[in-house]
Amino acid sequence: MTEHELLAPDAEPIHVQEQTQDENDEREYLCPAFASRYMTEPIVSNKFPEKTMPAKVVYRIIKDAREMDATPRLNLASFVTTWMEPEADQLILESLNINYIDESEYPSTTNIQNSCVSMLADLYHAEDACGTATVGSSEAILLGGLAFKRRWQEKRKAAGLKEAVTPNIVCSSAVHVCWEKLFNYFEIEPRYINLTEDCFVATPEKIVAACDENTIGVVAIMGTTYSGHFEDVAGISAALDKLSTEKGYDIKIHVDGASGAFVVPFLYPDLKWDFRLKNVVSINASGHKYGLVYPGVGWVLFRSKKYLPDSLVFHDNYLGTDQISFTLNFSKGASQIVAQYYQFLRLGRLGYTKIMRNCHAVAMYLGKALEDTGYFKVISARDPTPMLPLATFCLKPEFRQNGYDEFDVADRLRQRGWVVPAYTMAPDAQAIRVLRVLCREELSISSARTFVEDVKTAMEWLTGHYIYTPQQLTDLKKTLGWKGTGKRAVKTTIQPGEPEINQATVPMHGGIC
Ligand SMILES: Cc1ncc(COP(=O)(O)O)c(C=O)c1O
Repeated sequence: MTEHELLAPDAEPIHVQEQTQDENDEREYLCPAFASRYMTEPIVSNKFPEKTMPAKVVYRIIKDAREMDATPRLNLASFVTTWMEPEADQLILESLNINYIDESEYPSTTNIQNSCVSMLADLYHAEDACGTATVGSSEAILLGGLAFKRRWQEKRKAAGLKEAVTPNIVCSSAVHVCWEKLFNYFEIEPRYINLTEDCFVATPEKIVAACDENTIGVVAIMGTTYSGHFEDVAGISAALDKLSTEKGYDIKIHVDGASGAFVVPFLYPDLKWDFRLKNVVSINASGHKYGLVYPGVGWVLFRSKKYLPDSLVFHDNYLGTDQISFTLNFSKGASQIVAQYYQFLRLGRLGYTKIMRNCHAVAMYLGKALEDTGYFKVISARDPTPMLPLATFCLKPEFRQNGYDEFDVADRLRQRGWVVPAYTMAPDAQAIRVLRVLCREELSISSARTFVEDVKTAMEWLTGHYIYTPQQLTDLKKTLGWKGTGKRAVKTTIQPGEPEINQATVPMHGGIC
């Protein structure tokens, strides 16, 4: 390694370490396929690297590091799209180097965004809507919440009201964490309507009861993250009308349609949840969820310009022309917006409807098949109740007593590659622990069947590794129809106080007992 001096423009020498010819030769000619032939020491990842490395080695090192992650297609925890057609992939690759904000250089991407907004406005039955692409629903929600707050502030100012009061937003305790960010970052008081153990949404009655003169908006979730249930937007809208007549409050609704805004228009076209309801003034949608695009693209739409205060819209001409923006970031990639446009043109209403029907059919199959295993109670909605295409389920109480819970089931499934989250429900239903499987386009009915078989194997393993009393085992055998004569000692030493166990009746794992 030699030290080399470069002259900077101000004539101060800059010291650069050069590689020797030997080092260069080694790097150039060995060209190792695997990093282990090149690297004898781990990467120092907390210091800025001094030397260069061959591209192939760097590629391998990073690829190896990522190899330990879950397989995206088997990640049933995420709402986010993991597969698109090769033509969409191609368009994405071709627009990876486009900065969306450079409107004058790349006007086609601005036109594409505007077309997507118009198409969504049409889908959501708006006559005069405006909106923008965002990185996802979280950014869209921050913008929707900001618009609520600014409208309220401007109204108060116009009315000559100056004293400091904190505005509030009423929502279910099952709101996504991005709403908590909104409340925290923009100083809005959250008024949570807690769930109950038999109702996982906020009802219209409870929502209006929590409103007062400083309520700047209410949230209706079209598919809660926890269980996929839809809130009754039409009921909330009617209850707000009544409240307005009784108390004179003018409170509007933001619909959090992160997932549902790309499901409901196709699966339940007659369900009124959108701008057909006059109190709905803004809607967010995640293009990267059931909008069928890779992460990160989302959308926020306003009923009309009246609901997007002008004071929140920025104009600049740094990039050559007058640009209008209402986003939290300046630069961002254009490829996801292009990909969204691809899906709209490619699929249209017919294509989205077919895909959502398939997702729904898989969800219905899963709900039934999981229930039929005998181990679970399915808590997501079932036909004919409108729902997101997913299955949320929990262990039946008799299995809960065995010393394992939903987290152990998730853990066993992970060993087969499936990622299924286990979690507790939102306040006040935290006593309920659930597992949730999202039925995205990528989860075919065949994969869903394999999943159910793997769930059964996981349950057999768990039941085979936990102890039952003989009576419990006899009952379980009866309930689940276990057959066979296998004998397997799971635990040979019984601790004082533990129930006696007849080892001959402990089921073997692996489906044979
Ligand atoms: C109901 C709901 N709102 C908002 C979000 C946040 O969306 P994003 O991940 O697109 O920012 C989610 C994400 O799952 C969600 O389920």
